Amino acid sequence: MENEKKISVAIDGPSGAGKSTIARRTARTLGLVYVDTGAIYRTVGYHAYRSGIDPTDAASVAALLPELRISMDYGEDGLQRMYRNDEDVTEQIRLPEISMFTSHVSALPEVRAFLLEMQRRMAWEYSVVMDGRDIGTVVLPDADVKIFLTASAEDRARRRYKELMERGTPKGFDELLQEIEQRDYNDSHRAASPLRPAEGAVRLDTTGNTFEQSLQQVLAIIKERTGL
Ligand code: DC
Repeated sequence: MENEKKISVAIDGPSGAGKSTIARRTARTLGLVYVDTGAIYRTVGYHAYRSGIDPTDAASVAALLPELRISMDYGEDGLQRMYRNDEDVTEQIRLPEISMFTSHVSALPEVRAFLLEMQRRMAWEYSVVMDGRDIGTVVLPDADVKIFLTASAEDRARRRYKELMERGTPKGFDELLQEIEQRDYNDSHRAASPLRPAEGAVRLDTTGNTFEQSLQQVLAIIKERTGL
């Protein structure tokens, strides 16, 4: 049967710009499926971590992929649950050591190729808001709407600082700022799918915005382009 036309919204940008919160709320508001591709990469990072290998060793990571089945579903709260083979790893993939492993494995072309089909299939089956680093450039170059969401490094460090304080695990502002600048550099200088705005992407700088202001701006961009 002919697949009816699905809407796809690609939201890319650096860590800490508020992408996932904005993408999730946007999807909920418009009745679309939210796909958090960072969580998919994190599941590969977790698998590498549990396998005890060096995450920078491309051959060892690639050797793990054929035995890895990744799946996901959505809880009533809209939370995207992730499964490594049949194990629910939704919480584990958020641990700081997994962020580190994931940043290494996601730089490998073998891993990016392994996940490409899975991400494209989601957009083929559902109308989606998909967030990540290379959605508009590589995964869905024909997305109906592409948004590149940024904020100044200081603003992102401030948000992270507040978040960690509230969680009871504070870290110094200068250290956080340095980490963010380092991650930005890594993400935009890696050879495989470096972070950059896609052709035709609307750049949205959320520096100084409240969450609600950013959300309304994203909704307005989508409405203008799709009528949704
Ligand atoms: O958005 P996040 O922090 O959950 O992403 C986790 C890691 O995965 C981060 O190091 C960037 C990487 N990633 C990627 O390379 N490509 C994507 N489409 C999504 C995430």
